[in-house]
Amino acid sequence: MDKRKILLQLDSDPHPSVFDRVVAIDAGVDELFSYGNVQPEQVAGLVHGAIFTRGPKDLKRTAIFIGGSNVETGEILLAKAVAAMLPAFGLRVSVLLDANGANTTAAAAVRVAAKHLSLACTKAIVLGGTGPVGQRVALLLARQGAEVRLASRQLPRAKAACDAILRKVPEAKLEPVAITGESELGPALDGRTLAIAAGAAGVVLLPKSARLACSTLQLVIDLNAVPPLGIEGVEVTDSGTQRDNVLAYGAIGVGSTKMKLHRAAVARLFESNDQVMDAEEVYALGEAL
Ligand SMILES: NC(=O)c1ccc[n+]([C@@H]2O[C@H](COP(=O)([O-])OP(=O)(O)OC[C@H]3O[C@@H](n4cnc5c(N)ncnc54)[C@H](OP(=O)(O)O)[C@@H]3O)[C@@H](O)[C@H]2O)c1
Repeated sequence: MDKRKILLQLDSDPHPSVFDRVVAIDAGVDELFSYGNVQPEQVAGLVHGAIFTRGPKDLKRTAIFIGGSNVETGEILLAKAVAAMLPAFGLRVSVLLDANGANTTAAAAVRVAAKHLSLACTKAIVLGGTGPVGQRVALLLARQGAEVRLASRQLPRAKAACDAILRKVPEAKLEPVAITGESELGPALDGRTLAIAAGAAGVVLLPKSARLACSTLQLVIDLNAVPPLGIEGVEVTDSGTQRDNVLAYGAIGVGSTKMKLHRAAVARLFESNDQVMDAEEVYALGEAL
């Protein structure tokens, strides 16, 4: 008989995310071991507890989820978890990183875009492109062959984000742009068919006047659910809704795809014990949804 599916939840916040715990159960996890306030130096010990207990053939029934509101800390915890495995002896378990929902949110936004546009021919702009979600959106778009303008209020930050993506996707067609006001927004939007707003919660990055002035835009996706929303005139529940001259999605409109990806990613962990799931692996799951 198959052993019970155990998910080890490593969360850098004081309380392990209730949201992530509910999704884990809904994704079919039998036993959820949740740890909060996890520090990088504690990861190896926790991982060893997971890999040294069951034999290699049963290790696909144990997996790790890394969460917490700080995505950079989550990335460090992921690196520590991978380093603590012993693959030469088959002693490893699959790991999923979705700190602050960044991977599932970015993957969902790009999946939604791919429903409407051929990404390989798409000219995109990612507003708020330097945040954890925006960087992942830009990476996924670039991987699909889109031309991506990555926007920040500061050009050096946009450049640094583009450089980080180029290290993973050397063929990426990326252009860093600085936007501090509408005078820079117009030229940055010029020729773009897709705009994804991944700016901080409660910040308008694409005012309606600029959106209406851009005749090439076909699709806009806003990931900010906190008013005022990131794209003026788009409702949070929009889901392929016609708004003036564009199709629009709001953060809740993208949410159903995000939830499906999150559940699918947790379920996928238990198919083998050798997976490391970051943004691109989560995005790939969308093929089957
Ligand atoms: N639905 C979900 O489950 C879910 C999950 C995760 C995130 N989200 C949403 O997705 C969005 C992106 O998340 P994130 O964590 O990547 O965002 P973030 O790091 O908080 O912000 C993204 C970028 O926004 C820019 N920004 C910050 N304050 C600004 C201001 N006052 N004016 C203009 N730009 C500003 C910054 O870029 P520069 O400093 O370089 O200009 C920052 O790098 C957020 O709205 C978040 O709420 C939703």
